Amino acid sequence: MEKKNSVFIETYGCQMNLADTEVVLGILRENGYTVAPSLQEADVVLMNTCSIRENAEERIYGRLGNMKTLKQSKPGLVVGVLGCMAERLRKDLMEEKKVVDLVVGPDEYRRIPEFIGLAIAGEKGIGVKLSKTETYDDIIPYREDGLSAYISVMRGCDKFCTFCVVPFTRGRERSRSLSSIVAEVRLLSERGFREVTLLGQNVNSYLDGEYDFADLLAAVAEVDRKIRVRFTTSHPQDMSEKLLYTIAAHQNLCKYIHLPVQSGSNRILDLMNRTYTVEHYLDLMEKARRIIPGVSFSTDIISGFPGETWEDHLATLDVMNKVRYDGAYMFKYSPREGTKAFRMVDDVAEEVKSKRLQEIISQQQRISAEINETLVGKLEVLLIEGASRKSEDFLAGRTDSNKIVIIPRKDEIGEGDYVEVKIKKGTSATLFGDFVKMVDKRITPVRSEAV
Ligand code: 5AD
Ligand code: SF4
Repeated sequence: MEKKNSVFIETYGCQMNLADTEVVLGILRENGYTVAPSLQEADVVLMNTCSIRENAEERIYGRLGNMKTLKQSKPGLVVGVLGCMAERLRKDLMEEKKVVDLVVGPDEYRRIPEFIGLAIAGEKGIGVKLSKTETYDDIIPYREDGLSAYISVMRGCDKFCTFCVVPFTRGRERSRSLSSIVAEVRLLSERGFREVTLLGQNVNSYLDGEYDFADLLAAVAEVDRKIRVRFTTSHPQDMSEKLLYTIAAHQNLCKYIHLPVQSGSNRILDLMNRTYTVEHYLDLMEKARRIIPGVSFSTDIISGFPGETWEDHLATLDVMNKVRYDGAYMFKYSPREGTKAFRMVDDVAEEVKSKRLQEIISQQQRISAEINETLVGKLEVLLIEGASRKSEDFLAGRTDSNKIVIIPRKDEIGEGDYVEVKIKKGTSATLFGDFVKMVDKRITPVRSEAV
C-alpha cells in the first residue's frame, strides 16, 4: 500500500488549541509522519476544533463541507476532527458526517497514529476518553523557528462557570511538572525565541508538588532574561498576592494581566458561578496596581446571559469604566448543551444581546483610544517582530501590554531586538513611535502616569 504520511492540521479556537496542535505534530513526527506544507499536499487533514460558542462549531461544520468536496477529488484522503468538538459531538460527527474518519478528544492525542492507521485500513478511529493525568509532559512539541511560542502548563478546568463547556470537553485540572516546562523554555531560548506565553484555562490553579504558579513564573523568567514571559488565563478568585509580587519582581514578566470579569453585576456573576463579587474584583485590581506600577489589564465579557436586565448591563459598562481595560474580548452569550446555564431560560432577545454587545464594544474602543492617547510622549520597550504589514520602510513591535507600535526602519534594528521608543501618535488600534535606543536586557518601561 502507498505510504500516507504527510499531515496538515487546521487549528481553530483558543491559544490552547494552537499549543495542542504542536503537541500533536510532535507525536506524529515521532511516529514517522511529516508536516505537509499545505492542505492540498496532505494525505491526512486534521481539524483541531473549538466548542466555546455555537458560531465556532457552525464554522467548522461549514469547513467539513469543503473537506467532503476535497475528498471527492482526492479519494483516500484521511480527515479527522480533534479538540473540543470531537469530545462534545463524537457520535454526531462519526455517524452523520461521513467525511470524518477519525475523532480524537484532547486527552487521547497519543493514539492518533493508531487511529490514522485504522482510517487508512478503512475503519473509523475514535478516542474521546478524558484523563485525570494526561499532560503530554514528555512530548516535545513541533514548532517552526520563530520569536514567540505558546506553552501549555496545565490542562482542563474545575471551575464550572455555568455558561462554559470547557470542563466537559477538556476534563479536570492537572498541571505539568515545573522542571519539564523550564526545560522547554531552555530549548526555546537556545533556538532564539524571545517570548513565551504560558497557557492554562485557569493558570492560577497550577500546582506541581509544592510549586504554585508564582513559583513557575519566577522559574521561567530566570531561564533567559531576554525572553519575555506572558501568561493566560487568570481567574479573579485565585489570583494571589504572591503572584502579583512575583510579576513585579521580574523585569521580563509582562506587566499585563488578562483577568476575565464576564459581567459587572453581582447577581449575574452568582448565576454564572464565578465565585467572586465585583467589589472583590475591583479590590484585586487596585492591589495589582499598587504592587505592579504601570500594570495593564484585559478582560472577557459576556453580554446577554440568561436573566440579564438593563441594570445588569449598565453595571457591566460601569465596571469597564472603572477598570479602563487596555483590551477586551467581548461575546454574546451562546447556550451550550450540558452546561448549567443551558437549563436556564435564554430570555434576552437576540436583538437586545446584539445591541448590548455593540454598546460594550463601542465603549471599549473609546477607552482603548483614550489610553493610547495618554501614551503619547511616553517611553515604551518593544520587542521587534519584523516589517510592518503596510510597508517595508517601517518595523512593527509589541509592548508589554501587547500593543503594536510602528517605528521607522533602522539598519541596526533586527527581528527579536528590544528597543526603547517614544510614542508620538496613537489610534484605538495602533501606536506610532520614534526610536530612542537599543535595549540590551529587558527594562520595564515606566507607565505609571498612563494609568
Ligand atoms: N457564550 C459566550 N461566551 C462564552 N465564553 C465561554 N463560554 C461562553 C458562552 N457559552 C467566553 C468567556 C470566556 C471566554 C474564553 O469565552 O468570556 O472567558
Ligand atoms: Fe470555562 Fe470558567 Fe473554566 Fe474559564 S474558568 S474555562 S470560563 S469554566
